[in-house]
Amino acid sequence: MNKHIVMLPGDGIGQEVSKAAKQVLEAVAERYNHTFTFETHEIGGAAIDSQGTPLPEDTVAACKKSDAILLGAVGGPKWDQLPGHMRPEKGLLGIRKKMGLFANLRPIKGFKQLLHASPLKPEVVEGSDLLIVRELTGGLYFGEPSERRNNGQEVVDTLAYTRSEIERIVDQAFQSAMVRRKHLTSVDKANVLESSRMWREVVEEKKHDYPEVTVDHMLVDAAAMKLITNPASFDVIVTENMFGDILSDEASVLTGSLGMLPSASIRSDGVGLYEPVHGSAPDIAGENKANPLAAILSTAMMLRHSFQMEEEADQVETAVQEVLAAKFHTADLSLENGVKVTGSEMAAKVIEQI
Ligand code: NAI
Ligand code: MG
Repeated sequence: MNKHIVMLPGDGIGQEVSKAAKQVLEAVAERYNHTFTFETHEIGGAAIDSQGTPLPEDTVAACKKSDAILLGAVGGPKWDQLPGHMRPEKGLLGIRKKMGLFANLRPIKGFKQLLHASPLKPEVVEGSDLLIVRELTGGLYFGEPSERRNNGQEVVDTLAYTRSEIERIVDQAFQSAMVRRKHLTSVDKANVLESSRMWREVVEEKKHDYPEVTVDHMLVDAAAMKLITNPASFDVIVTENMFGDILSDEASVLTGSLGMLPSASIRSDGVGLYEPVHGSAPDIAGENKANPLAAILSTAMMLRHSFQMEEEADQVETAVQEVLAAKFHTADLSLENGVKVTGSEMAAKVIEQI
């Protein structure tokens, strides 16, 4: 198959980990006889420096013509003092919105070699394997009005959803549940918010289309507690934008290894943007210390969701597991009797397995 991929390395270690991810995609193409073509564009701080905007027009145009996008990370202290609309993060929010990527998928799975790195007791985190499906282009972060009023004595933000926006994210979550353990937890605040009551209604309607999936509803505060008391009880969680933002960051620390977590932002036609959960890590940028596995696992999500290449995706994930089982690790992880390697050596080990 021929696929065209836009690379947006961004800032800091984004440059290093996206290089590793590209090499892995090249290795997959070679092994499985695909043709992947690549085109690199600027986003975030790098784009601000050279083009005066975090999201240049040519970056958006290239993404719109691509089959999938791989992003490294954006941001860093150099750009922290800029006004809101000029900050690197605006590039990221902008590209997700402009591409209509309404579903953010964050799988969180503890690797057994790394259980001891969790802030939770190993027996609590063991067996955790969950997917958070977060609505990404609606809700409180985009609702209008969002403004100061009354001479600055009053402020308003708006949590707005259309029924069809809720339906498409709930459908995505049911579809994800169908290829996993077939359990869906819908998280809301239906005791307080009208938007949550409509969200619940939609889930109740949609569940008739997916009779094999068991469904429960949980209030967001209860879900926040259960994520740390019994994370292994979850399979797929679906929730609105802000709740998903908070819960997915909470869940991302469960495994104690930020450098291992991939994510995808997708839409219904399969186009998606794939990126590690971590940021640009200015503290280690340029030192070849960054763990490339989150970016590499993001390519597995790309192969699966955008290209329907299940076997290839499994191959990448298996390669990562094998490298960890052989006790290779970057500086951010500790493995008993492990062999510490650099970021680029880690990528090479994964490619060897592929
Ligand atoms: P961060 O994720 O960049 O770093 C947090 C800590 O984890 C640091 O000590 C870092 O060295 C370590 N770390 C992160 N990824 C690692 C990896 N792959 N290998 C080894 N160690 C790793 O978060 P932080 O420090 O809060 O933010 C730094 C910058 O990144 C900020 O400008 C922030 O706005 C931006 N950021 C960007 C994101 C994105 O592009 N999606 C997400 C989060 C933060
Ligand atoms: Mg967040």
